[in-house]
This record gives sequence, structure tokens and C-alpha cells, in this order.
Amino acid sequence: MGEFDGKSVIVTGGALGIGGAASLAFAREGANVTILDWNAEAGDAMVDRITSSGGVAQFVHADAGTTEGCRSTVEAAVEAYGGVDVVFNNVGIQPPDSYVDAVELPEETWDKIIAVNLKSRFLMAKYAVPHMRIAGGGVIISSASVQGLQSMGGVSAYAASKGGDLSLMRQMSLDFARDNIRVVAVNPGAIDTPMVRNAIEGTGGNLEDELMSTARAHPLGRIGQPEDIANMVLFLASDRASFVTGSYFNVDGGLMAMGAWANTVGADGSA
Ligand SMILES: NC(=O)c1ccc[n+]([C@@H]2O[C@H](COP(=O)([O-])OP(=O)(O)OC[C@H]3O[C@@H](n4cnc5c(N)ncnc54)[C@H](O)[C@@H]3O)[C@@H](O)[C@H]2O)c1
Repeated sequence: MGEFDGKSVIVTGGALGIGGAASLAFAREGANVTILDWNAEAGDAMVDRITSSGGVAQFVHADAGTTEGCRSTVEAAVEAYGGVDVVFNNVGIQPPDSYVDAVELPEETWDKIIAVNLKSRFLMAKYAVPHMRIAGGGVIISSASVQGLQSMGGVSAYAASKGGDLSLMRQMSLDFARDNIRVVAVNPGAIDTPMVRNAIEGTGGNLEDELMSTARAHPLGRIGQPEDIANMVLFLASDRASFVTGSYFNVDGGLMAMGAWANTVGADGSA
């Protein structure tokens, strides 16, 4: 018996990275998984991987930043699996060429990041919640980010999308509480995924050096793995979290526990 036996779970950006780990984990726990992704090769490969180990999954090849992409994904889940119990709003982009200030950021890049990282959350709720209402409840989970809480240089659109994601999560948790729909978010620290590797390489960094310094920046001394996030997502999606809504959870190796002075003050309090 799996914890999600027979549940219909949508994972956006579910082919690779954090979404890939979540798709695998939900399927291992018995869920019927609908994967929305714009990478056809990786989406097909993920479905093969799940079905060849006895799981149930389907792939929708679409852009999560569009109405049609989100609507067709919900329709596919309802048609194949009879409804939608869980939406993991994981999809997100941070293109290497977006690491510039707001003056330099092309307007189209702003629009694209906001559409994929934030508008997709609104669209998935718009189309999935009516089915959750019919079923008497559901769970919506976002991959937001520690960058929704604190910031750094050159990430205006990404930071805005993640702050917006957290705010929308909080707001929708109130609108949908009466429908027994829980809305929550996870804030990953740095996780070793294609996004992070592409960002390092795309901004001209040395991959091994940057991965090591990223690991050192986290109090636990390592970079996170996609499974670290999937574990939290499965917990939040489960009935074990049935009194949890409107909150975010940092899965960040201790990153958000540090103050700005953390690296200048020794463990003994000496400056
Ligand atoms: N990796 C990290 O360090 C980190 C940290 C904080 C937050 N996050 C967030 O976690 C989420 C997942 O990140 P990741 O690192 O696994 O990313 P990733 O780039 O490694 O994987 C993202 C997946 O989404 C798909 N995708 C991207 N844009 C899409 C679109 N418009 N339509 C459909 N599919 C699309 C990609 O093909 C890929 O399968 C994102 O929301 C990201 O912002 C990641």
C-alpha cells in the first residue's frame, strides 16, 4: 500500500530536477501522476521510468506559462484519473541571461519569468480547484524559493515571482480553506538540478568550484538534492499534514537561519 494509492497528482515541470524527483516519489507511493513539461524528451523518459517500475503516469507536453498548457494538463488528469487531488506547482525558470538589474532586463524576459513562475500558479488553481471542490478537498503546493524571503543582486523578475508565489499561496489558502483545500509552499535552498548547473555555466562560472562554494554557504555544508524537496512535498501533500495550510517551509540546509552578520561573527561570539 502506498500513501497516495489512486490519488491523481499533477507535477508541473515534472520531468527533471525537483519536479522529476517528486514525480518519481509520488508514483512510488501509488499516485497516478500527470507530468506537465515543455521538454518532450525528458517528459517521455520520466513516464517510461515510472511505468517500467510498475507506476502510473502520463505526460502533457506544454508550456506551463500559458492558459492552454495549464487547462489541458488539468483536463488530462481528470480524463485519465478521474479528478485532481494534488497539484505540485513546481515549474520555474531562471534563465542565465536574466542575471542583470531591472534596467538591463528585457521586458520579454520579465514577462516570461512571471508567466512561468507565478501566473502558472494562478492558472493551475483556476482550472484544478473546481475539480477539488467536487471531490471534497485537495492540496496545492508551490516550489517557491528562499529568494522569496531574502534577495541578492540581479534577480528582479525571479525574486518578484517567488515573493508573489508566497503571497498568492497565503491568499489562496484563505479562499479555499472552506473547500478543504490546503495551499502551502516549499522554499528550497540551492538544490543540485539542471537549473542550478545551467545558471552556473551560463554565467561563466566554474561548475565544480561554484557547487562547492554553494555547498559551503549552507550551514549544513552541502547542496540539497531534489529528493530533499520531494520528501517535504510528499509530507505536505499527505494527510499527516492535514492541519497545515497558508504556510511555507524552508528546506534550505539552514540558509534562512543565518543573519547578515553570520559570516563575520565566530561561533564563540567574537567578531
Ligand atoms: N534548484 C534550486 O536550487 C532551486 C532553489 C529554489 C527554488 N527552486 C525552484 O524549484 C522549482 C524547480 O527547480 P529546478 O531546479 O528543479 O528546475 P530545473 O530547471 O532543473 O527543472 C525544471 C523543469 O521544469 C521544466 N520547465 C521549465 N519551464 C517550463 C515551462 N514553461 N513549461 C513546462 N515545463 C517547464 C523543465 O523542462 C524541467 O523539467 C522552480 O520553481 C525553481 O524556481 C529551485
